[in-house]
Amino acid sequence: MTGSEIAHKTSHTAGGGQTAFYATSNIVPLPLLEKASGVHMWDSDGRRYIDVSSGPVVSNIGHGNAHVIDAMANQARNLDYAFARLARNRANIELSERLAELAGAGFERVSLTSGGSEAMENAIKLLRQHAIATGKPQKTKLITCQPSYHGATIATLAMNGEVMMAPFLDGFAEPSAKVPAPLAYRTPPNHDAAGYARHCADCLEAKIAELGAENVLAFVIEPVGGLSTGCVVPPTEYIHRIREICTQHGVHLVFDEILCGMGRTGKFLAAHHWPGALPDVVTMAKGLASGYSPLGAVLAPAQLVDELAGLTGFEFQYSYNANPVSCAAGLAVLKEYDRLGLVARAEELGAHLREGLERLMEKSPLIGDIRGMGMLHAVEIVADRQTKALFPNDAQPADRLRIHGLENGLIIYARTTSGGRYGHWFIVSPPLTITRDEIADLLARLNATLMDLRTEFAGAGLV
Ligand SMILES: Cc1ncc(COP(=O)(O)O)c(C=O)c1O
Repeated sequence: MTGSEIAHKTSHTAGGGQTAFYATSNIVPLPLLEKASGVHMWDSDGRRYIDVSSGPVVSNIGHGNAHVIDAMANQARNLDYAFARLARNRANIELSERLAELAGAGFERVSLTSGGSEAMENAIKLLRQHAIATGKPQKTKLITCQPSYHGATIATLAMNGEVMMAPFLDGFAEPSAKVPAPLAYRTPPNHDAAGYARHCADCLEAKIAELGAENVLAFVIEPVGGLSTGCVVPPTEYIHRIREICTQHGVHLVFDEILCGMGRTGKFLAAHHWPGALPDVVTMAKGLASGYSPLGAVLAPAQLVDELAGLTGFEFQYSYNANPVSCAAGLAVLKEYDRLGLVARAEELGAHLREGLERLMEKSPLIGDIRGMGMLHAVEIVADRQTKALFPNDAQPADRLRIHGLENGLIIYARTTSGGRYGHWFIVSPPLTITRDEIADLLARLNATLMDLRTEFAGAGLV
């Protein structure tokens, strides 16, 4: 079968790929991708797209990187697999050392996983096992934000601040306690962003008091938001205040940097933007192996991990933890970060991209807000910029934007979460390797995409 025949085949007697599990009501066509290089991807009809969001903010070093591919192939040739409980492997040791160096003091130990949800699970299991081993078995409560996203395993689904999951979780998994996320654009009446963030920190303190500090294991937060909040950046005072509250009440502070880590925000860890308020534990994934292989990590202090090692040790293991080929991919990605100066590039070209997005906002009344940091931006689409009015959900603004994006040569991750109550946005987070010329091309195509969406919505009487 040719690529084009596969792409246009709609019914399959067997298999069908991952998409066979998606709702048949899904209106956005999914191109069959055959090839990718740098920031570009090509489908089976030879159409070229810009990878606007790096998939779901994964492909940080861009596609087809020969250094990473060679490192993986060499590793697979020499040692394809070693089970971490039975043997050590050099790629694991070298990757852990480099990651700990880049993360800095307080993050000396690195537990490797096969992705973000597993990293989040391992972080919580590590803290839980440490609590039990050190005589605090009553610490069973987790606090997370509303909205938030931490993963898709059963336990991490219960941590997510996603109201639409309530019926799924009801009686099935123990939801974490929720406090409001420090949203900056859609703040409640009588709140500005700074005042609302103060209120959110107060809510954390009140929630800890309500649950009893002695029962609370950890507060988990995305320090810079991603897909669930549309890249919300909290005020510095908020980060310092939550650090203070957690320290005061003996609650671990965990930063979920699965999306915003790995230089996305212009520092290696987002936590490095607030060096006086570092978390206890950080989780990473996505950009860590940049899509070349499944890989996630938990960064934790030597003091905690070594204390636990002297008691029970951390008992939980997956067959693919510290897989040599994934570790070789991660190590090669970090070498590419050094060679290409990608963290500094995220800051410099991220600012350039941001200026371009702001110019688009002057042209397109559909843009209500642009937020983010480094090379991580969310653009919120509104029916009326003055009133911040939302488009109705049945107009499917995120999906319609994706469709117009595809027609204009862009693969865009656009989101409507929590039934639309927090708005509709799309993520502009191209690979950190993007050039100025490619940014100009991306912005021109985005402008055309927004104009097409506006024409369609004007025709439907929505604007
Ligand atoms: C902040 C955050 N945490 C956790 C996850 C889960 O990671 P994964 O999809 O690799 O399991 C994601 C994925 O989008 C994420 O954005």
